[in-house]
Amino acid sequence: MAQLKTAADLQNYLQTNAIGLPFDETLLPPADSPFNRAIKLKSGRTIGNSLCILPMEGWDGTPDGRPSAFTRNRWTKFAVSGAKLLFGCEAVAVSHAGKANPNQLVLNADTFADFVELRQLILDQHTEQFGNTDDLLIGLQLTHSGRFCKPNSHKTFESKILYAHPYLNGRFGLAADHPTLTDDEIDEIIEQYVDAAVLAQRAGFDFVDIKHCHGYLGHEFLSAVDRPGKYGGSFENRTRYLRNIVAGIQQAAPGLEMGIRLSAFDLLPFKKGPGEVGIPEPADQYPFAFGGRSDGLDIDLAEPKALLALVESLGIQLVCITGGSPYYNPHLMRPALFPPSDGYLPPEDPLLGVKRQLDVTHELKRAFPELVIIGSGYSYLQEWLPNVAQYVLRTGMADSVGFGRMVLSYPTMPADMLAGRSLTRNLLCRTFSDCTTAPRNGLISGCYPLDPHYKKLPEAEQLKAVKESL
Ligand SMILES: Cc1cc2nc3c(=O)[nH]c(=O)nc-3n(C[C@H](O)[C@H](O)[C@H](O)COP(=O)(O)O)c2cc1C
Ligand code: SF4
Repeated sequence: MAQLKTAADLQNYLQTNAIGLPFDETLLPPADSPFNRAIKLKSGRTIGNSLCILPMEGWDGTPDGRPSAFTRNRWTKFAVSGAKLLFGCEAVAVSHAGKANPNQLVLNADTFADFVELRQLILDQHTEQFGNTDDLLIGLQLTHSGRFCKPNSHKTFESKILYAHPYLNGRFGLAADHPTLTDDEIDEIIEQYVDAAVLAQRAGFDFVDIKHCHGYLGHEFLSAVDRPGKYGGSFENRTRYLRNIVAGIQQAAPGLEMGIRLSAFDLLPFKKGPGEVGIPEPADQYPFAFGGRSDGLDIDLAEPKALLALVESLGIQLVCITGGSPYYNPHLMRPALFPPSDGYLPPEDPLLGVKRQLDVTHELKRAFPELVIIGSGYSYLQEWLPNVAQYVLRTGMADSVGFGRMVLSYPTMPADMLAGRSLTRNLLCRTFSDCTTAPRNGLISGCYPLDPHYKKLPEAEQLKAVKESL
């Protein structure tokens, strides 16, 4: 992308490669820019602009689930970014057993005060930069990591699964008959979700994100097509988990707004093929891709649309769209030129990955005009992110544009876009994937290549050694 210096270069590249990615050639001045468009919620609250920070965890909490100085540093980046919607800040487990790594944050009675402080940190930092926080909406992403739980050791999965998966059980070291969560255990997890939401409300968060993406527990329910009992099989049963959490929160934390981050499409798991390029697992039929066609090779949004109709009927307005899973098809959700250490070389031009997320988000926005729909997966666009984002917002393909990796390398990019300033090119995320390779190898996450704070840590040397040994 760094080579595509002019709009004509980008246009030529897109045409040559038959990629129908829309973008605006020039950026509008701040007064006319859709970046500065406020979003009014049905609750009466206003989100001050149309830029959003996506949840980004750092694998850097304490073993008992509290934030560290690294965590506070990342939340400060979110606060000073200029975006007025923080969609969840980062994945926070509802129990120790539900953590995706030993350093994930947990919200419980013991850590409650830490979350009060984290939110206050955001308010203070945002006020210092922008004067007030009246139109800033701060969510907290609540999670249970299900199949990808690793609460005690970076090396050992302690998976909580809903069904035996034909590829993922084997891939992540589980026997085909690994026990599945019982309905009673699921009921307990739902209670933990509700308890965490009560604490989030008391800590002052504006909403909780009931995470349903990336292969974690909420997302796995949606594909539990052959699970017997009340939580599997029919669409109604596979969404019971969501409905019961929402009902529990409405009762125990009245007035707390909710959002949902959804993997709205999925495909077969990918693996390294010839030349280390990603290829899908071979299968004739694959019923486990929520939002996927029955062969697992393309998208089918019929069920995701049914889910969003349900979400809307439950009174949820905030929906953040993503896709797939970082564990088994990362190119879908995090288009990148350089794969993380557990990944594969991109099976497609990463711009196609960006476009897929744009198109799905657009189709869902068209079908649900009343929902506030946030898009993801823009970081690969690099210097062209503002031009694509402006087109998307201007034409109503989404209500808000989310920033993931970019906010790690260039935290004030949203503020620069909102003010119509030119970009600082040497801060642009170049999708090196170090922020994923590091945690996959037991190190804290961060932008080692571009953030001076991480560059000089001893972990940077360890990461270098890991990459050299690959
Ligand atoms: C280091 C890292 C941490 C992430 N943490 C979370 C998380 O806590 N919750 C979540 O839903 N997604 C998480 N994601 C996914 C991002 O929110 C986002 O969907 C993805 O990076 C694609 O957006 P981008 O192209 O702007 O990076 C993470 C991604 C990365 C690279
Ligand atoms: S390490 Fe930095 S440059 Fe690399 S993908 Fe992450 S944020 Fe982008």
